[in-house]
Amino acid sequence: MPDLYFPSSSSSSGAAIDIEGLVQRFGGQVVLDSIDIRLDPGQVLALLGPSGCGKTTLLKLLAGLNRPSAGRIAIDGVTVVDDHVFVPPEKRGLGMVFQDYALWPHMDVGANVAFPLEMRGVPRAERARLVDRALHTVGLAGFQERAPGSLSGGQQQRVALARAIVARPRVLLFDEPLSNLDRDLRESLCGEIGQLLRELGTTAVYVTHDHEEAFTLADTVAVMRAGKICQMAPPESLVQEPASPDVVEFLKLGALRHGVRTERGWRLSGGLELHCPEPLSGVPGGAGHLFIPHGALKAGQRQTLHGYVVAQRFRGGHYATTVRIGDDHNAFELAWLTDRRMPVRHPVGLDLDWSRLRWFPQAA
Ligand SMILES: Nc1ncnc2c1ncn2[C@@H]1O[C@H](COP(=O)(O)OP(=O)(O)OP(=O)(O)O)[C@@H](O)[C@H]1O
Ligand SMILES: [Mg+2]
Repeated sequence: MPDLYFPSSSSSSGAAIDIEGLVQRFGGQVVLDSIDIRLDPGQVLALLGPSGCGKTTLLKLLAGLNRPSAGRIAIDGVTVVDDHVFVPPEKRGLGMVFQDYALWPHMDVGANVAFPLEMRGVPRAERARLVDRALHTVGLAGFQERAPGSLSGGQQQRVALARAIVARPRVLLFDEPLSNLDRDLRESLCGEIGQLLRELGTTAVYVTHDHEEAFTLADTVAVMRAGKICQMAPPESLVQEPASPDVVEFLKLGALRHGVRTERGWRLSGGLELHCPEPLSGVPGGAGHLFIPHGALKAGQRQTLHGYVVAQRFRGGHYATTVRIGDDHNAFELAWLTDRRMPVRHPVGLDLDWSRLRWFPQAA
């Protein structure tokens, strides 16, 4: 018996998901503004951004739960929506997992998971086999006859996951599936979902406002703000080369200070002067934002920054130390790894790894 219950595509552009010029307006408000995304088969994309930036709206357009104001979406090379076409949700070959589980309370676990197969007319014996397999995959073998209400939140979310994958969809969509769970469970289930997606090789779009979750799960992260994608890149590139102050701020990658480029460095708001030992490229005089990443602090003879210890946590043989720099109404905090244990308010003078600083000139 085949394992695929979705029609396979007749043509393929090679992309699993291709979104072009997608716009969503509600009344006069532009909620999504010219979104372009292209995902390869098996790629896992996280949509990451603050509340209200348009993540769920974008997911609903992919799912076919809304119609866009403009633009086109193709799944596996088949246009599912544009000005002329609209393929309904059940024909898009998707599996979905939402925040609130959305299990049917009057049906047992087995019936909940079997539902997408029943909709597609899969024979009973085959249904039972596929439900067994899906429940086994999510670590709930033998749970068929339990009522959803008798399960923990984490178990309910696993049932929702089993239901999403049971028909082996082309694309899986997740909307903050872990946000109702406590922290430990969130971390472990997040790792499991990531592993599962890799094993299944399913293309997925995963909405979250938690960057740890996004970085754990996804090969590519799209940082969104106010209906636009600020940057779309692998997690390591986002951390090493954030494209804008918005990305730095949202991902909390370090300190972002307004300032002016001087001959030898920067004068930051609050009066702090930084003099770089090496000549700097670029033209002095302009205003902008200086980004000092968390990893840029280091112990050294040259004490460029003075501050004090706010907190220390022992992590993997080092103390992850939060250092507060600058006077009180203009202070900023940076993370620093050290082998030394220090009391709170202990004064420190630190050097900078200048090569890691990044200057974002203000747009003219
Ligand atoms: N059906 C609708 N009618 C009018 N406005 C809407 C509708 N759906 C969403 N919006 C608006 O679109 C914007 C984006 O909403 P969306 O639900 O996509 O945000 P989100 O990024 O998922 O946020 P959260 O993290 O809080 O879930 C919000 O300002 C919201 O009020
Ligand atoms: Mg949302």
